[in-house]
Amino acid sequence: MCGIVGYVGTNKAVPYLIEGLSKLEYRGYDSAGIAVNINKDIQVYKAKGRLKNLEAIIDMDMDSVIGIGHTRWATHGAPSDVNAHPHMNQTRSIAVIHNGIIENYMEIKEWLIHDKQVEFVSETDSEVIAHLIDYYYTGDLLDAVYKAVDRMQGAYAIGVIAKQEPNRLVAVRKDSPLIVGLGEDENFIASDIPALLKYTRNMLLIENDEFVDLTKDKVTIYNSLKQEVTRDVYEVTWDIDSAEKEGFEHFTLKEIFEQPKGVKETLMRRLNADDEIVLEGVNLTSEILKDINKVYIVACGTAYHAGLVGRRAIENFAKIPVECDVASEFRYRDPFVDERTLFIAVSQSGETLDTLQSLREAKRKGARVLSIVNVVGSSVARESDDLLYTWAGPEIGVASTKAYTTQLIAFYMLALHLGRLNGRLDMVRYHETITELKNMPAKLEVVLGQSEKIQKLAASQFNNEKVFFMGRGVDCDLAYEGSLKLKEISYINSFAIAAGELKHGTIALIEDDTFIVALATQNALYDKMLSNIKEVKARGAHVFAIAKAGNDQILKTADEVFFIPDTMDDLAPILAVVPTQLLAYYVSALRGNDVDKPRNLAKSVTVE
Ligand code: AGP
Repeated sequence: MCGIVGYVGTNKAVPYLIEGLSKLEYRGYDSAGIAVNINKDIQVYKAKGRLKNLEAIIDMDMDSVIGIGHTRWATHGAPSDVNAHPHMNQTRSIAVIHNGIIENYMEIKEWLIHDKQVEFVSETDSEVIAHLIDYYYTGDLLDAVYKAVDRMQGAYAIGVIAKQEPNRLVAVRKDSPLIVGLGEDENFIASDIPALLKYTRNMLLIENDEFVDLTKDKVTIYNSLKQEVTRDVYEVTWDIDSAEKEGFEHFTLKEIFEQPKGVKETLMRRLNADDEIVLEGVNLTSEILKDINKVYIVACGTAYHAGLVGRRAIENFAKIPVECDVASEFRYRDPFVDERTLFIAVSQSGETLDTLQSLREAKRKGARVLSIVNVVGSSVARESDDLLYTWAGPEIGVASTKAYTTQLIAFYMLALHLGRLNGRLDMVRYHETITELKNMPAKLEVVLGQSEKIQKLAASQFNNEKVFFMGRGVDCDLAYEGSLKLKEISYINSFAIAAGELKHGTIALIEDDTFIVALATQNALYDKMLSNIKEVKARGAHVFAIAKAGNDQILKTADEVFFIPDTMDDLAPILAVVPTQLLAYYVSALRGNDVDKPRNLAKSVTVE
């Protein structure tokens, strides 16, 4: 959740730190700070609230060539100047920034207070790190960091500078993301690639339990045994403008409109000239698949909702039973996982700690781990046996949109691939589905071309606080995603239900003008959805239905209907999700919310 940046070079450090922090704002934060070393004196500046509050108290021209910066998303201790990072030791000779949670911080804090008479100034867990490094510091910062980290449990990406070593920046990671940027006579650290793209495309992706020792002209990576390790340079191909808004008012809207491209990228790079699916990075063979007797899909939030659709796709195309679970529950149900289990993790950021920890639990129990991830080289990606990247490009808006549709594509391809590996998918259906998947980018453009219909609907409903989504079959899975999108960016307390459940209680909620989004794209369940719409209409609801073109009967029952281009039932979510995303976006914008950075939310939830 927090964001870290660091610079050591020959130019003035402060502008790099502030620029880097500004590109990490999307991760969500409540305060920010920097520390610089000026003539062997460390100066720290921190401010609660937005980055501009920090900029108001610093001199961008400060004469320092080394510094660290931080955006904080509070976990321990309320948002405040004192709790903001960087944190220092008592003699102010060491400054630390931290993203993560030190789970045993209380034990260390008590030891430092009672045995070492250390005085703490903040309520944070992170401050412990500064005092612990100070305790072990005897003139070599890297050595002190090793010793301090050895005492710590939890998740961290840490950046440290020391007064006595004005040309050295040390960093270390465990579970929280950390990258190194390589420049000319300057080097960088950050939580995420966008923070550094303005200065370098050449990155080093740091693995868990690795330490980094940086000066302006040298970067050395060490493992937990202090052995030097080498790392290939990862050259970032996408550039900063693709992370800019390109004329859209918000990243979220831009990313909704980028979906045809993301879907096409994720699909077409994996089809050969004969329309055969080639999943490089997925090394499942028919032999391996024969031994798999259980499949779990585990994820959080939108990625979990994509997993619900993925479950149906794998069951429909590969005839393999699948369980789908939220990561924060998976580990605590003592799941039946062993070496015959295929564990599928889904994550846009690849850093969601709930998902990462579930993946590790599954690995510990012998499962084979296949991950569907959008961020190359992310922690989930690096800890998986098989990898299926979505190529949605950087998703900056906190609400996940293009990641969802590309995750669906990844699942459909995986399901088709598995169905062919185990021989349970006939070639006619395989080719029909591939052909229809290839039509999806164009059909998405058709849907997006009707966005003003949704804009009008939002204008009539944006103040309605009585909203819910309903559907049957895969439309029910989609209802959960539509409701989450609306909730997280409009703050309307919407929910989703299986339409068949209406009569089992929820229908008691219906009153005049209750706004209901009815997903009715499944031919096999269309008549039942028409009945559900009549039921709620009879009790005063206002119904917005999403159906396939050609199914005109619904025009006689729903108040408004959005028709998606006709397509296979299985693939309908790719298209039907877009009106729900647009509805959430326009309602949020009309309510004057910070659409890209909704309150209380973070783009990547790197705490449990
Ligand atoms: C979705 O719009 C939310 N931002 C959130 O639910 C998100 O999907 C969830 O935190 C999982 O994130 P991940 O895909 O990066 O793992």
